[in-house]
Formats: sequence, structure tokens, C-alpha cells
Amino acid sequence: MRKIIITLAVSLCFVAASAQFIPQPLTVNHSDGEFTITDRSALVYDSDVREAALYMLNYIPFKQILSSQKALKGDIQLSVNRLMESEQYRLTITPDNITIIGGGYGGVFNGIQTLMQLLPPKVYQKSAKLPITLPCCTIEDNPQYSYRGFMLDVARTWISADRVKRYIDLMAHLKLNKLHFHLTDDEGWRIEIKSHPELAQIGGFRGGDSPVFPRYAKFDEKWGGYYTQQELKDIVAYASQRNIEVIPEIDMPGHSKALRAIYPHILCNYTPDHTITNGLEIRNVWCAAKESNYALIDDIIREVSQIFTSPYIHIGGDEVNMEQWKQCPDCQRLKADKELQNEKQIEDYFIARTTQILARYNRKPAVWNEAIEGGTLAKSTRVYGWASIRKCLNATAKGYPTIVMPGDHFYFDMKQSPSEAGHNWAAIFDAKKVLSFNLEAQGFTPTHLKSVAGIESSFFSEIFIAHNPESNHYLDYMLFPRLCAMAEVTWCAKPRSWEQFYTTLKQSHYARMDAMGVTYRLETPTVNYSNGTITASTADGSTLYYTDTRTGRGGKYSKPIVTDAPYAYEFHSKRGCGQSKMTGTSHYFEQLKPTVTVTSSIPCAAKTPISNAAKYTNAIARTTRAGKAGDWVEYRFTEPLKCRQIEAQTGHIHLRRCHFLNGYVEVSHDGKQFTRVADLTDGGATIHPTAPIHALRIVATSRTDAENQVVFQSLKIK
Ligand code: ACM
Ligand code: ZN
Repeated sequence: MRKIIITLAVSLCFVAASAQFIPQPLTVNHSDGEFTITDRSALVYDSDVREAALYMLNYIPFKQILSSQKALKGDIQLSVNRLMESEQYRLTITPDNITIIGGGYGGVFNGIQTLMQLLPPKVYQKSAKLPITLPCCTIEDNPQYSYRGFMLDVARTWISADRVKRYIDLMAHLKLNKLHFHLTDDEGWRIEIKSHPELAQIGGFRGGDSPVFPRYAKFDEKWGGYYTQQELKDIVAYASQRNIEVIPEIDMPGHSKALRAIYPHILCNYTPDHTITNGLEIRNVWCAAKESNYALIDDIIREVSQIFTSPYIHIGGDEVNMEQWKQCPDCQRLKADKELQNEKQIEDYFIARTTQILARYNRKPAVWNEAIEGGTLAKSTRVYGWASIRKCLNATAKGYPTIVMPGDHFYFDMKQSPSEAGHNWAAIFDAKKVLSFNLEAQGFTPTHLKSVAGIESSFFSEIFIAHNPESNHYLDYMLFPRLCAMAEVTWCAKPRSWEQFYTTLKQSHYARMDAMGVTYRLETPTVNYSNGTITASTADGSTLYYTDTRTGRGGKYSKPIVTDAPYAYEFHSKRGCGQSKMTGTSHYFEQLKPTVTVTSSIPCAAKTPISNAAKYTNAIARTTRAGKAGDWVEYRFTEPLKCRQIEAQTGHIHLRRCHFLNGYVEVSHDGKQFTRVADLTDGGATIHPTAPIHALRIVATSRTDAENQVVFQSLKIK
């Protein structure tokens, strides 16, 4: 019995200790005694890790910091042992000292992050006060992957250099070590190029009088920004001190509308049919046959290589619209001259030429997974597998060093549940699914695994611009705690179960994120309705709030709510900086699906007919041209419809794109006469009918956005 009690005590102690860290270290061994960091403790460091010591000083108020000294009793020592692997470390706390020994700078830095997770959360506010007493222990640790990445898209939605540094800090706390910086795309050019200053000065802003069209939101203003070369160098240095390499991406030869808006001569040599786009140019692909294009790329890469220290420059290669090369006589001549089999091999040619330019500046290429499809891409090229796990398997099977980042586990722009904001093309998933990611379970054999160079998560920012991009709230909510789970998956050979990981969130890590000011997502409260009563609960100690959506009134939830309108109550919970999604009973989510016939003034493509907008699914109808003033889409109900609310929206389901820019909603109660009831905001409007409706029409009063089609979707009716 005694033995059982001792075993239990030891294992409870281990659980408590291991509930402390994200990501979980390899081994944590506790020993007797404790150590106190006091005013007299010196931080003693090897000269190789001076920057790490200075970093530590930001957070812990050491009175003394000394280089290359032997630590005395009471001191903290940072040192390097080159016999260890570069990111490996050993953190030892004895009654006399704290020692962090790392195989290199990264190892010492990782040990500092682990030590910080042993300190009170206030350390992240840079306001921890000495003395701090810690129990003695030895922690041995070494990451599973040397590439633990996060990709930030600042092209679609720009954020300031200081805000980028904040995300670098948050990555560092999770021991992530690569920032893939998506600097250019159709919607913006964010990097100053001194030899071509207009690229950033004009291409960094869209809308208003900019030749770069507004997209996804902020249609009525000129909006954006860019980073000067000095700001980018500061970001690189800031990241480097935090053991993070910044890998810049210049997305080519597709995704180049912003650049093309300034330099239309990079496009292919033919005149497209602009009648279907209301006269707007929508092409976005560099012509592969123009020598002047490679000269421009040389100018850009030369400057990029002077700013960034990474051996890699990501040159894109994704989602290239090959139609543009098919229609270009010059590209077709190039194809014939070089005996290229198809347009995909034109992309190979473009990448090979760009790779030669990179080599001139001592840089290596990285590309998205589409770039291997031509079949001749050099085997040394680093491939980022984003589109699916199958694409990652394919790249690794061919032996490309591959960064695994399939959208269905690692695109943190995806929704976390069906009723929340975000995309859903790859999947709808939360931190629990991220944590479950396992390469072997996804079909990776030892041969595939040999070519896995690392794991990356990403945030593409199309939607962010529609969610107050001046605040971090939306981005934080999308990233945390999914990024924490991703850190565990990349660091640990055996990530913990969700139950263990969630315990760590609740017991330790939520409080740390509170101190960091991260507005993270809490797990969704449980809300049930039975016997005329709504009951709600949470499992994380958060406070529940409710709102009666009929009156807008509500408050703290303290007792069950007796009601015959369970659909009307909305709940969410808060704890520190964390917040859950809005939720409710199953009645709250219920949507009506009355039979409806949809018609439009614009013809639809055969593959995406207008009937798709009558299905109440995610199916969409696509028209064969852009819209103009007077165009409409009409929803006519078989039976007069009685309902509380209708959301009528044009454009893609999750994006403000391919929608009516300006217009209104009108309804008919007799099927003949229509009354205007709401103006469109970002292509949609929500109405609250007071009488049964026969038909609803969305009418455009101006041209649609800068696309060659309009998208219609089903109504959302409650
Ligand atoms: C991508 O999401 N197009 C890389
Ligand atoms: Zn061309």
C-alpha cells in the first residue's frame, strides 16, 4: 500500500510538473531543494550567447550580467557545449545555481524559454519581481524537427513592423524558429525595393486612387502599408536574437496583380477580352518569355538578399493561371524553342531562371507544391506542401526536401467551427485537430519521412482585413491556441494527448497568454435546452455571458434560463484575455431551408449553375461576366416564407470577393411589387421580415469588384 502511495505521489508530482510546459520537454526530473533568484544573482554567459543573455534581461531584472565568468553560488549561467546538437539544451536547477547548456545559440535560447515557463506569468509582462524561488530539477530537451515554422501573410492584410515583432515574440515563446514572411501577392507589395521604389510606394496600398484594386474589404478607402529595408533588417535582427530565421517570399510568377498594376509590361503579350471584366485587367502572371522580366527579378532578388540572411528565398510558384501562357505567342514560342512539354514546364523554366538569379546572390530557392508538377524542378529545391497531405506525400516521395503544412491541419486562416469566421476550403478545425497531426498516421513511410524538412503553420490574411486589422484580436484568436498545439507537434517526438495538453492550457498556459496580452480562443461552452430551460457550462473556469438577441439584453450567466425561445439566446465565455466563440442551443443554430427558385440577370457558368444558390449548401453559382449597375439575383419562394431573419449575401461564402459592391435588397410580399428594405454592406444585408415573403432580390447599383464573375450563394434563413 505504501509503495502505491509513493508511486502515486511521484506520478502526481510529475503530472503537475509536466502540466507546465508547451511544448513538452523530452525529460523533466525533479530533485530535492530549491533555488532563489535574488538581487545578488548574476547572469553569467559565454560570449557566443551574449544576445540571448540580453534577451533574458528584457524579462528578468538581473542586477548584474557578466560575460565569460565562472558562475558563483547564486548565479545563473548560460553556456555552449558544441558536442550537443545545436538546438539541444540541458536546464539544471540546483540549490546553488541555474545552468542552461545549449549545443549552440538556439539550444541556449530554447533553455531560456523553458526556464521562463517555470517563472510566474508576470515574467511575460516584464514585471516579475525578485526574489523568485524555483524547485530543483534537470530538464533535457531536443526538438524533433529543426524547422518549426509559421507563415505570416502581410500582403493581403498589412500589419506594422512592431506588430510583426510581437508575433515573433509569441513564436519564440513556443520555440518556433522559422518565420516565412509572405511579402507580396495580388493584393499588395510590402517590401521596399530601392531600385524600383514605386513597387512598395504604390503597390503597398490598394483602393482609392491606387492602381491596385481594393479587395476583400475596405472598398471605399486607400489602405495598406509596406516595410522599409531598414525596418526589415530590424525584423531580421530581432528574430535572430529570438532564434528565428526569417524566410522572405516574393510570390511569382502568379499572384502578382499588385506588381502588374505598376508594371503592366511584365504581363504576356496579348490583348485579353476585357468586356467580361468591365474593362478591368485581372491578369496576374509574369510572362516567362520576356528577358526584361528576368532583369527585374534580378533587381528585386539582389535587394532581398541584402536584407534577409536566410539561405532561402521563397519564390512562390503556386496557383499560376497557365491560360495566360497558353494565349501568349512569346511564351508559346519559348515552349517550342526549349522543347517544353506543356505550360507546367514553362513554370519550370521560369523557376530555373529565377534559381540562377538566386544563385548569383548565394541564395537557394523554395517553392509551393505546384512547382514540382512540370517534372523537371531541381531536386535540391525546397518544397512547401500546402494544398493537401497527398501533395506532401508526393513531394517527399520524389525526394524534395519538404516543409509539411497541409491546409487541413496547419492553415490557421481556416474556421475553428462552422459558425465562426474564417475560410473552410481545406477544413474546419481547432487546436485539438492540430495536436492530433501525425505523419505516420497520414501515410508517411520511412522513405517519405527522410525528406520531411520540417513543419509549418500559416495564416493567409484575406479575411483579416474585414475584422478590424488595426487590432490583433482576430489574428490572435485564429492563432492561439492552435499555434501552441502546432509547437507541440513539431517539437515533441510524442506529443501529449489532448486531455494532457488542455490541462496545461488551463493550469498554466492561459495565464501566460493573459500576461502576453494574447486574445486567445477558449473552448466552446456547452449549452443545452430541455424542459423549457437553457443550461450552460464551461470546463475551464471561465465566466459565462448570455444575450437575448431579441432585446440585446443579457449579462453574466448565473442560473438556468427558463424560456420558450431557446433560439434567441447567445452565449460566450471569457477568462483573462481569452474568449470563446458565440454559441447557443441547437435551436440557435437552426436554419430554415424553404424551397426556392433562384434566377439572375447574368448568365451562370454550366459547371456552377444558378440552381446552386438554391441548395442551402456551400455550393456557389458563378456568372460568366462581372456585374454592372442594374444586375440582380432573385430568390422566389414556393410558399410565402415566415421567418425571423434572412442574411442575403453576394460573393464567395467566406470572402468579400466576386460580389455586388453597391446595391440593395428588396422584398416582395405578393410576388409582384418589390420594396427596398436594406442597402448592401460588403455585398450583403441582413433583414428581419415582419410579414411573409414571396421573393427577395439583391440588386447592384454599380459595377462589381475587380473580377470577371459574380458569385451567388444560398440565403441564410432563421
Ligand atoms: C497557397 O495557399 N496558395 C500557398
Ligand atoms: Zn508570355
